[in-house]
Amino acid sequence: MSGHLTTDQIIAAYGSARVLSGVSINAKPGAITSILGANGAGKTSLIRAILGLLPTSKGRIELDGEILSDLSPHARVARGLGCVPEGRKVFPKMTVEENLRVGAYLSNDKDLVEGRLQKVYQTFPRLNERKQQFAGTMSGGEQAMVSIGRALMSEPRVLLIDEPSLGLSPALVRESFALIRDINRSGVSILLVEQNVQQTLAIADYGYVISQGTVVAQGTSEELQNDPEMKKAYFGIR
Ligand SMILES: Nc1ncnc2c1ncn2[C@@H]1O[C@H](COP(=O)(O)OP(=O)(O)O)[C@@H](O)[C@H]1O
Ligand SMILES: [Mg+2]
Repeated sequence: MSGHLTTDQIIAAYGSARVLSGVSINAKPGAITSILGANGAGKTSLIRAILGLLPTSKGRIELDGEILSDLSPHARVARGLGCVPEGRKVFPKMTVEENLRVGAYLSNDKDLVEGRLQKVYQTFPRLNERKQQFAGTMSGGEQAMVSIGRALMSEPRVLLIDEPSLGLSPALVRESFALIRDINRSGVSILLVEQNVQQTLAIADYGYVISQGTVVAQGTSEELQNDPEMKKAYFGIR
């Protein structure tokens, strides 16, 4: 089932340095919602705040109408949030399969976990072939698969993906984006953080542009693609 994630005017800081200054986003059920913005804009901090890894001092985070703001990160994952972190963060000295199993750590139901594992192996036959290999010895593209597969092991209703294109070749970026679209079509709402504006808008339904911790523009992907300011800032058209 697709989840509905919203943030309402959230504020967060690292010590005294404010990083999110009242960010409101609406990631609609079944949609790919994108968060665009330059390096240092606050995109990863927004994801960390949604997951409960960065405390918010004000505002509200809701998943399907339930307030998440005061829940621990693992409680938020149990409610249906999943995450593919920036830099993928596979556990290098664990095997591919061990990495995948970590993604289901909240479930004690052995059959359920086996079923999900088989589903991930169907999606990524390459991981099935390499399940006993240490994840740290896999290629960048394969580690991307491990990271996405690990997130799918909790069967999230909303998947947060932080800069999946980072460090991948153009061919692998295309592959990852096609995969994200497939995951979305299978019924998972996606919040996609990216700096790669053109390719992101090609697959996203709606987008928010953030700068210095605030939303400075938003619209459907078509609206953003046709926005003169966006064209100037991100498409190199003057
Ligand atoms: N752990 C941290 N401690 C202090 N400042 C941080 C920390 N992480 C990020 N920042 C600062 O917060 C701002 C936003 O960072 P980040 O959310 O990582 O941006 P983005 O993901 O858009 O590149 C930056 O100015 C960054 O230096
Ligand atoms: Mg980031």
